[in-house]
Amino acid sequence: MNTVTTGHAGAGELTPQVLRTAFAAFPSGVTAVAAMVDGRPMGMAASSFTSVSLEPALVSVCVAHTSSTWKLLAAAPRIGVSVLAEHHGETARSLAARGEEKFANVEWSADEAGAIFIHDSALWLRCSIHDAIAVGDHDIVVLEVESLDRFEGVAPMVFHGSGFHGMSRGTKRVPLRNGWGWEFDPFS
Ligand SMILES: Cc1cc2nc3c(=O)[nH]c(=O)nc-3n(C[C@H](O)[C@H](O)[C@H](O)COP(=O)(O)O)c2cc1C
Repeated sequence: MNTVTTGHAGAGELTPQVLRTAFAAFPSGVTAVAAMVDGRPMGMAASSFTSVSLEPALVSVCVAHTSSTWKLLAAAPRIGVSVLAEHHGETARSLAARGEEKFANVEWSADEAGAIFIHDSALWLRCSIHDAIAVGDHDIVVLEVESLDRFEGVAPMVFHGSGFHGMSRGTKRVPLRNGWGWEFDPFS
């Protein structure tokens, strides 16, 4: 049976936290958006990734105006987008953290133009910025895809209900907070 847990939220009750929880009902993947900036790796986790257009090849991510990482990435000539795999819970957590050490325990490579790719991902997209549109408290950043690498058989991470999930048989939900990682439970 379906359960209504919060009921109707009036306009005054649509706080960022209420909306964040509500929007988490929509499952998505998680991408790493990353590039070299002044000789150092910079990047962020982004679940707002969406495909936009085939001709030309365009994708988008929505980036919060408060993101200090995006302010730096926005000047990069090329940006790598990696679709994270279901074992990348710790990587997503690191890339979502604030501060200098985001890449300390992340396996990554940069191409000659400075686009950064996370190892063992499901997909790599080598992109440049096509457009950015300020909407509300985010920018919709449209990225042009210049080349890609697909890694067949790599199960993507699924972000839902504020937790990281896998798509393989036997994976189970792991909360985003309170032990952000990913677990494999062969008995579930
Ligand atoms: C699973 C996940 C998805 C996220 N998706 C987005 C996103 O789509 N857009 C965004 O601006 N921030 C997103 N974030 C937050 C950023 O990854 C990161 O926390 C933020 O950029 C850190 O702040 P800073 O950029 O000021 O260092 C996400 C975080 C997590 C854990």
